[in-house]
Amino acid sequence: MKNSHEDPIKSLFEPKNIAIVGASNVKGKIGYTILNNIVSGGYRGNIYPVNPKGGTIMGYSVYQNIADINETIDLVTVAVPAKFVLDTVENCAKKKAKHIQIITSGFSEIGNIEEEKKIVAIAKSNGMRILGPNIFGLYSAAASMNATFSASKIKSGHVAILTQSGALGVAMIGKTAVDNIGLSAIVSTGNKCDIDENDLLRYLVPQKETRVILMYIEGVKNGSKLIDTLKWATEKKPVIVIKSGRSKRGAMAAASHTGSLAGSDEIFDAIMKQCGVIRAKCLNEAFNWCEFFAFCPTPKGRNTVIVTNGGGVGVLATDTAEEFDIDLYDDQTVLKQAFEDSVPAFGSTKNPIDITGGANSDHYKMALNAPVNCKHIDATIALYCETSTFDSENLVPMIKDTFENHKKAGKPISYAIVGGEDVEKAMIILKKENVPVYNEVNDAVSSLGVSFQYQRYLKEKSDLVEEAEIDIERINSIIDLALKDQRPFLLSNESADIMSAAGITMPKSKIAKNINQAIQYANEIGYPVVMKVVSRDILHKSDAGGVALDLINQNEVLDAYEAIIQNSMDYNPQATIDGIEVSEMVEKGVELIVGARMDRAFGPIVMCGMGGIYVEVIKDVVFRGLPINSHEAMKMLKEIRSFPLLLGVRGEKKKDIDGVIDTIMRVGSIIKKCNKITDIEINPVVVYEQNKGLRALDVRILIKNPQEAT
Ligand code: COA
Repeated sequence: MKNSHEDPIKSLFEPKNIAIVGASNVKGKIGYTILNNIVSGGYRGNIYPVNPKGGTIMGYSVYQNIADINETIDLVTVAVPAKFVLDTVENCAKKKAKHIQIITSGFSEIGNIEEEKKIVAIAKSNGMRILGPNIFGLYSAAASMNATFSASKIKSGHVAILTQSGALGVAMIGKTAVDNIGLSAIVSTGNKCDIDENDLLRYLVPQKETRVILMYIEGVKNGSKLIDTLKWATEKKPVIVIKSGRSKRGAMAAASHTGSLAGSDEIFDAIMKQCGVIRAKCLNEAFNWCEFFAFCPTPKGRNTVIVTNGGGVGVLATDTAEEFDIDLYDDQTVLKQAFEDSVPAFGSTKNPIDITGGANSDHYKMALNAPVNCKHIDATIALYCETSTFDSENLVPMIKDTFENHKKAGKPISYAIVGGEDVEKAMIILKKENVPVYNEVNDAVSSLGVSFQYQRYLKEKSDLVEEAEIDIERINSIIDLALKDQRPFLLSNESADIMSAAGITMPKSKIAKNINQAIQYANEIGYPVVMKVVSRDILHKSDAGGVALDLINQNEVLDAYEAIIQNSMDYNPQATIDGIEVSEMVEKGVELIVGARMDRAFGPIVMCGMGGIYVEVIKDVVFRGLPINSHEAMKMLKEIRSFPLLLGVRGEKKKDIDGVIDTIMRVGSIIKKCNKITDIEINPVVVYEQNKGLRALDVRILIKNPQEAT
C-alpha cells in the first residue's frame, strides 16, 4: 500500500501536549475524569485545562480560552455540551491544533448530521484531524496517556483495541484490567466523522509495542478502503474483529445505533476471511486469542500434540481441534519415543497423550518438555484436570517452566486448567505473568487454532493482480440503450450481448419476431431447442409460462410459440412482447451460480456457489470483495460445500474448474469496470467436463436507477 510506512496521525497517539476543553473541578463530570486520568496515568507532556471559569484544577492553571495557550496544540480533548463544540473547533483552528478528539455526543448518531459536517469542514480547511464525536477517548501506552473517561486504570501492554462502541470500549478497559491484559492503545472511533479505522491502523500496525489488534465494528462506511488497509495490516500483525449485527435483528439495531449501515453479515464474514482477519464471536473469545497472539510464538509447522491427565478433556480437545483444522500428529513411532518415559504403562502415547489421573507436576514437566525437544512436534495443547494426586502448589511453577521452555524453542503451547479454587488462583498468577492459560478446553484449543489459521492465510495469500479482458465500451453502449429506455434492468438479449462482450459463453440463441423466424432459427441452431419470452414487463419468465424446453421439431416449436405468447398475455395483458428467444437446449451438467453486485458497504463483490432453482434454500454460496485473482477464485470454489461435485463424484470426470474461475473473474471485471451495473446473476452456469467449458444459461443484470445513472 502506498505510504504505508507513514503515520500521519502519530501526534494523536504521542502528543507533546494536550488541552482539555471542558476540564472541570466537579468530580463525576466527564471533564473531571478525563483530566484526572491523564494526570494519574503518568502523561509526560504539557497539560492545559480549558474552562471559561479559569482558576486551577488539580493544581493546573486553567485557560479561559484555548486561544490563550502559548503553544501549538497536538491534541485537544473536547468535553463540552454539543452546542459549544462548533465554536470550540473554530477556536482550535485559530490555534492551529493538530488533532481534536470530540467526546461529546449529540451529532450524526442522533441525526444532527449538518453540525457534524460543519465541524469536519472547518477541520479540513485548517489541516486538523478529528476523532469522534461521540467517543470515550483515547489511551496510548507510547505516551502514557489515558485521555479517556474510563473508571479503571489501564495496564500497558501489547494489545491495541479500536472500538466503534464507546460503552463497550469502556467495559473492555474494565475487562482488560481484571484479566490483566496489557494494552498498547485503545481508541474509540464513535461517529468516525473524519479519522476512521484506516487512519488508526496506519499508526498501530507498524508500532513496535502492538503485537495484535482487536477491532469492534458495528458498521462499515468505506469498505473498499478497509479491505486494502486490512490486507496490508494482516501481512504484519494479526487482526481480530468482533462485529455486531450477525443476526438480522442485530444488524438493524447496529444500523440505527451508529447511523451507518451494517453490511450483510455473510459478506462481512467473507471479506474478513479474505483479508486474513480473524473473526471472534464474543469478547471472551477475542481476548483469549489476543493473549495467545501477544505472548506465544507462532507455529512453524502444523504437527500438534494434546497432552492430558484426563481422557474426557482429551476428547473434547480433539473435537475442537478438528473444528479449527488443527493437525493432530499421528506418527506412533515418534510419539512413543518422545513420550514413553512420561506416560505410565496404563496411559497412552497415542495422540491425545494420556499421562493419566495419577500424574504429578514432575510427570507433567517431563511430558510437556518432550515436544520442546522433538523436531517433529510443532505445537502443544496442555490439559490439566485438578486431581488429589497432583501437588497443586507446583502447578504455577510447572506451567511457567514448561511455557518458558516452549517459548525458547519458538513453539506455541496452550494450557487449559480445569478445577476449583487452586486452579483459579493459579490462573490469576499466571495471567499476571503473561502466560496464556484458560479454564476451558475449547479456549485453549481455539487460541492455537486461530494462530494456525493466521499462519495458513499468510502462507497461501497471493498478491498477484489479474484483470479479465472484457469489451467495456460495448457493455456501456448496451446499458446506455436500456437507460434511454428508462429501464433499471436489461432484457435477456441485452444481457446475452453483455456476456458475449465479456467473453462468457451463452447457449446459441436468436430472437424471433414471428413464428416463421422461430422455426428458421430453430433449424439453424439445431434440435432440441428452448424458447423463452422476451419482454421488459415479464422478469420471471417461468412464472408467466413464458418458457418451453426440449422442443425436438418444427411442430413443437410452432405449438410452443403460440403457447408462450398466450401465457404471457394472460399473465400480464399490458406486457409488450419484444419477441421469442430461440436457443440451443444445453446438455445437463453441474449447475452453479456466479454473480456480482455493488455492495453498499464494501463496493464491488463477487459470489459463486451451488446454482439452480433451490439456490436460496441450499445457500451454498461464497463471496469475495474485488479485486480477486484466480488463486482467490479457486479458494472460493473450494469453500463451497458442493465443491466435490466439480471434482467428479461416483466415477464422473472432473469438471471444467478453470472455466468456472475464468467466469468468476470476468463477472468481477464487469461489475468493477462498469459502474452503471448494480447486480449480475448467472444462474445456472452449467459446467461440463474439463476442457468442455460451460454455458451461462440464465443471466439477469440490474442497472442503476436511470435517474441516478445519467
Ligand atoms: N469551553 C470550555 N469549557 C466550557 C465551555 C467552553 N466553551 N462551555 C462550558 N464549559 C465547561 C462548563 O462550565 C463545565 O465546567 P464546570 O464543571 O466547571 O462548570 C464543563 O465545561 C462541562 O460542561 P457541562 O455543561 O457541565 O457539561 P457536562 O459535563 O454535563 O456534559 C458532555 C458535557 C460532553 C460530557 C456531554 O455533553 C456529553 O456529550 N455526554 C455524553 C458523552 C458520551 O457519552 N460520549 C460517548 C461515549 S461512548
